[in-house]
Amino acid sequence: MKPDKYVHGYSDKEASRLNNQADTLEDIIHCDSIFPNGSLVLEAGCGVGAQTKIITAKNPHSGFISIDISEDSIREAKEMQKQAGLTNVEFKQADIFHLPFEDETFDGVILCFVLEHLHDPIEALHSVKRVLKKGGVLMAIEGDHGSTFFYPESEDACAAINCQIQLQKQAGGNANIGRTLYPLFNATGLKEISVTPRMVYVDSSKPQLVEGFIKNTFTAMIEGVGKMSVERGLVDDQTFDKGIKDLYRTAASDGVFCYTFLKVMGIK
Ligand SMILES: C[S@@+](CC[C@H](N)C(=O)[O-])C[C@H]1O[C@@H](n2cnc3c(N)ncnc32)[C@H](O)[C@@H]1O
Repeated sequence: MKPDKYVHGYSDKEASRLNNQADTLEDIIHCDSIFPNGSLVLEAGCGVGAQTKIITAKNPHSGFISIDISEDSIREAKEMQKQAGLTNVEFKQADIFHLPFEDETFDGVILCFVLEHLHDPIEALHSVKRVLKKGGVLMAIEGDHGSTFFYPESEDACAAINCQIQLQKQAGGNANIGRTLYPLFNATGLKEISVTPRMVYVDSSKPQLVEGFIKNTFTAMIEGVGKMSVERGLVDDQTFDKGIKDLYRTAASDGVFCYTFLKVMGIK
């Protein structure tokens, strides 16, 4: 089973982008993805396991069940698990909206870059909250494309980014969901909610982020929606191609790129 509307698709290129993104952002978004020893944690929407290998390594004395709706992604995640020798996780194909677990099964839940793709994030949060024990922590990490700024400035680059925002909206998601995490957690009845912005600021003094974030995470993601954007009449191909060129241009020695992820934690 696959969600037919997942805007980035399930290609090998997208799997590689997700792995690159996870490795590049590890310190920024997962420095505090820590659960008490002995916890059983649900990772919902694990994809190919790109975040799983990081969070399971950070929590060697806890167990994880990582689920995704895509059978292909779960197969790939299991292959990654075999190769990396991860012993504290079990991968399972499941739908966030119909979780096959008893109420109050888990001590913690983590979602990374998932709510932004769902038509009803509050229903998804209620669903994961159901399987969370009282007093357990729910963490979510999301982007917000409206937080993007860069130098040199470019209207074409903004137009290309806007295509991604529009396509995600058409698919029922929200590429600017980061700013809504506090109200979403509030509406779900979670307590002690805290949101922290995680800014990724990149200039050429940070060559790893130039490669890992500007080129291989952000621009690769926008580039991936070019064909669909042109087909749907959101942009003409010259404008889109120039926009991508201008995004890569921000990776030059005088370029600057900035994006902010948001991480929210709440207690049931
Ligand atoms: C952007 S990917 C993020 C994957 C992973 N968390 C990461 O950061 O690398 C979003 C994932 O959410 C999954 N997904 C979408 N709808 C879902 C649903 N209803 N139940 C479970 N997973 C879902 C997709 O299949 C996809 O693997």
